[in-house]
This record gives sequence, structure tokens and C-alpha cells, in this order.
Amino acid sequence: MFKSILIFILFSLVNAHFRPERQLDYNSTVIDCSRFKRSAFQHACVLAPESMEGPYFIHEDLVRSNITDGKPGVPLTLDIVITAADVCLPISGAKVYVWHCDNRGYYSGFTQYSPDKKAPDDRGLEVYIGDEKRFFRGVQTTDEHGKVRYQTIYPGYYYGRAVHIHVEVYIGGNAIYVGQLYFPENLNEKIEKVEAYANRITKRTLNKDDHIYKAKSGELTTLELDGNLKGFKTSIVLGIDPSNRSTAKASTVTPTSATV
Ligand SMILES: *[C@@H]1O[C@H](CO)[C@@H](O)[C@H](O)[C@H]1NC(C)=O
Ligand SMILES: *[C@@H]1O[C@H](CO)[C@@H](O)[C@H](O)[C@H]1NC(C)=O
Ligand SMILES: *[C@@H]1O[C@H](CO)[C@@H](O)[C@H](O)[C@H]1NC(C)=O
Repeated sequence: MFKSILIFILFSLVNAHFRPERQLDYNSTVIDCSRFKRSAFQHACVLAPESMEGPYFIHEDLVRSNITDGKPGVPLTLDIVITAADVCLPISGAKVYVWHCDNRGYYSGFTQYSPDKKAPDDRGLEVYIGDEKRFFRGVQTTDEHGKVRYQTIYPGYYYGRAVHIHVEVYIGGNAIYVGQLYFPENLNEKIEKVEAYANRITKRTLNKDDHIYKAKSGELTTLELDGNLKGFKTSIVLGIDPSNRSTAKASTVTPTSATV
């Protein structure tokens, strides 16, 4: 009796970490979790769609949860849970990199590029040696529940792209997953009127008009947020295939190889 209560409590504790606000569609499932007697985890074990890395990744291990560097914006608590879609279990020890632009559309490390103009060709981008800013970038290792938490802000936007956050997952030194997280349009509309984000000369690209969102099933990695303009919270489970190296990476910028 006592033992079964204990098991139930333990199961509930584990299960609690698998109740995300955003669940990817069951239909993109790569396996049937009931095969492993883990059907309770089924919703957490679909393969998340991959996306492009884009030109602004900096492969640097800036380990931290709060990535704001004190910059302005509407606070956002972002939980990301990584699960192995092939065995229906959380993945601990995976490195989860996130990066996104600031409230005005600038990426740290690349602030010489105007967010109001078309970005240079992917391959042409290099870290500007004089730009040592690293706001809105960080990496953390997933805990035993497969989770990392970031304290950041609701991102702004830049020319040609919908509002998004980049995510890249490494296991044992290999990039296993490259993705982008999107935001609901009704919130994007409210955010662009907040003072820190307002009065841009560039029009915001809507999710439905964003070529990457359209090509890479952006609707499946669109976040659901709780909160208001004083601050939001969100969580998303990304099911990945830990044995499948991502083919979505661009040639990665490493600060040591950067040239002026
Ligand atoms: C997957 O989608 C199809 C068509 O929409 C539906 O018939 C089927 O029940 C779905 N499968 C699951 C497991 O939800
Ligand atoms: C993050 O750090 C900044 C200072 O860099 C601080 O102002 C802010 O309150 C911190 N956010 C959280 C949620 O701790
Ligand atoms: C690996 O992932 C890619 C998507 O990035 C997918 O197209 C491919 O089918 C996957 N390969 C396997 C063996 O799962």
C-alpha cells in the first residue's frame, strides 16, 4: 500500500515536468511510446521540426540563465524541455543554446548590421571584432528532467523576419537539433506598441509571411504564453532524435576564427 502510494507520488512528480503549455502534434511522432509502456509521455515525444541556424549564431559557451545583460524589454521566462523522441524520455546533459535579437532588432556581436535592412549573405557574416556585447545569448545544460530555464525578454524583430528565438541543441559536441520558436501574432501586435519596441521604420513580418516559418512548420514551434505586458512565462517541449546529427547548421561563426 505504502509502496504503491510512493510510486504514484514519484510518477506524478516526473509527470508534472511533462505537462508543457505547448505540445507538438502527436501526428509527427516517430515512435509509439506505449511500446515502452510510457504512453503518458507521448505528447512530449514527437519530433520537433528543425529550422535554419541563420547567420547570427555565436558558438561560445556563455553559461547563464539570465541573458538580458540588463537590456530593456518585456520580461520572458522561457523553459525548454528536451526529450528523446525515439525512447520517450527526457534528455539530461544536453547543451541548449538560445539567441535572439533585442527589443530594437539588433543581435549582440553583430550590432553594426542595421535591423532595418536586408541582412548580408549568410556566409558573409562574421563577428565584428569590436563588438563584444553578448546580450540575449546563452547556453545551459539540461537537468534530469531535460529542462533549462532562461530569463530573457520578448524579442523585437528585424527586417524580413517574424519574431523568433533561435535554439540549438548539442549532445557530445554534435549539433543534434536546430530550431526556431515563434510567438502568437495577437501578442506580437501588443508588444510592438510597448515603448521599448515602438516607432520602428521597418514593418514587422507576420508569421504567415515569414518564408522560414512557412517552410519549417513554424506553427509547431509557436509558443503559448502566460502573463501580460509586465512579464510572460512559457514552456515548450522539443522532441529530438539524439542519434541524428542536424543537417540544418550553417557554417558556424566562432569568435576565434573571426576576421575584421
Ligand atoms: C493523425 O492525423 C490523421 C489525419 O488528420 C488522423 O486521422 C489520425 O487519427 C491522427 N493520428 C493520431 C495518432 O492522432
Ligand atoms: C536579469 O538580470 C538583470 C540585470 O542584468 C536584472 O535587472 C533582472 O532583474 C534579471 N532578471 C531576472 C528575472 O532575474
Ligand atoms: C534526421 O533529421 C532530418 C531532419 O533534420 C530528417 O529529415 C531525417 O529523416 C532524420 N533522419 C533519421 C534517420 O531520422
